[in-house]
Amino acid sequence: MTIRDQSACPVDAGFDPLSPAFLADPFAVLASLPREAPVFYAPSIDSYVVTRYADIETIFLDHETYSAAQAQLPLVQLVPEAAQILLAGGHQPQPSMVSLDPPAHTRLRSPTARAFTPRRVAQMEPRIRATVDQLLDAVIPSAPFDLVSALTFPLPATIIFGFVGIPERDWAQLKAWCGHRASLAWGRPSAGEQVHHAQNMASYRGYLRAFVATKATAREDDFASALLAIHDEDPDALTHEEIASILFSLSFAGHETTNYLIGNGVRRLLEDPARWDAVAADPGLIPGAVHETLRYDPSVPVWRRVTKRPVTLGGVDLPAGAKLFLWLAASGRDASVFPEPETFDPRRANATKTLAFGRGIHYCLGAALGRLEAEIALEALTRRFPRLRLVDGRPLSFHPNISFRGPQALWVQAAPD
Ligand code: HEM
Repeated sequence: MTIRDQSACPVDAGFDPLSPAFLADPFAVLASLPREAPVFYAPSIDSYVVTRYADIETIFLDHETYSAAQAQLPLVQLVPEAAQILLAGGHQPQPSMVSLDPPAHTRLRSPTARAFTPRRVAQMEPRIRATVDQLLDAVIPSAPFDLVSALTFPLPATIIFGFVGIPERDWAQLKAWCGHRASLAWGRPSAGEQVHHAQNMASYRGYLRAFVATKATAREDDFASALLAIHDEDPDALTHEEIASILFSLSFAGHETTNYLIGNGVRRLLEDPARWDAVAADPGLIPGAVHETLRYDPSVPVWRRVTKRPVTLGGVDLPAGAKLFLWLAASGRDASVFPEPETFDPRRANATKTLAFGRGIHYCLGAALGRLEAEIALEALTRRFPRLRLVDGRPLSFHPNISFRGPQALWVQAAPD
């Protein structure tokens, strides 16, 4: 890979995070990049790639300079038909809180944080344990099985959709809509695919609007009802449309992120069976293993921002409107913060410093829930399968998008004693 200097900013014409080589092993691409270019322009995505921990942290903490408006914009320019379908379906270019700057962001974040309390998260623990047990009871331990379809995919969907209050009959449809959302905003769909995804997004938004209207007349003990109670206090401070937008955030954010976190964690522990065996022998290592997974192989490896004004970052002059590709996965391998970054170590003292959940005003609202689900899943797996192993000859594959990464299938087998 060659980097040439152009207008004081290095340009890497070969960098493409949707290329098969990158999707297969982004860390090999990272290792091939010159360290002296921590910020460079990538024409394939019309974005500046930011790799250093300190620069990414600076960006997260300075929302006056770096806007979140880019976070969910489609990576490719949409064809007019797809754009029209989205707008007609009430899907704005900044469709939910993670793309909004203050004060619009605060308007949505505050009631969400009020309804999504640590108490509500803690109350989910028995349900998470019961769901993990139920899913693992269905596994036949004597044969190889795909851990993604058995556990990591259904678990977070069951937990977050149940928490929000979505009827179980609609879960499969919601999972499918989430897939369209990931492809549209973070992939490189063709014109025909864009239209198909846009139609699904319009249906997804329409469903959530109808769901809020129905819920308003039939409250239960769930997150949607908690938001409606906040609406009742002051209907102008939180509208039904805004509640639907918050549910649009959570129904997606609480799902693939956690599926992939668990998948990446199990994969990295099993890559070296001694790691798995150590955690099975000492479950006290599990919280550290989850943090280390978030540092070493995060399930949200990339997030995006856009500059509001000209600014110098990592020695590079950026114009206003520069799109930034915050390579969170690279920040976890920054040796100036994490010594020996290529070593996966559940005992690493400062793994909690990871930027995998962001930083600042958009810091992930579901961080505690995601970690709890991953810890409970690892506890159950190491207890039931203390000698779990990867099945040979099953290459991993990854969904073609820039921001959500984890194995699509993970074949494992409980080794005989
Ligand atoms: C477990 C793995 C997870 C990872 C790696 C992850 C990562 C992230 C990241 C990188 C952001 C953007 C931060 C920023 O822009 O500064 C974010 C925001 C967010 N996450 Fe998560 N997330 C995870 C799980 C969850 C779960 C389980 C939920 C919900 C229950 C959730 C809900 C949210 C919400 C609502 C936001 C937007 C917050 C805002 O804009 O103020 N996330 N997350």
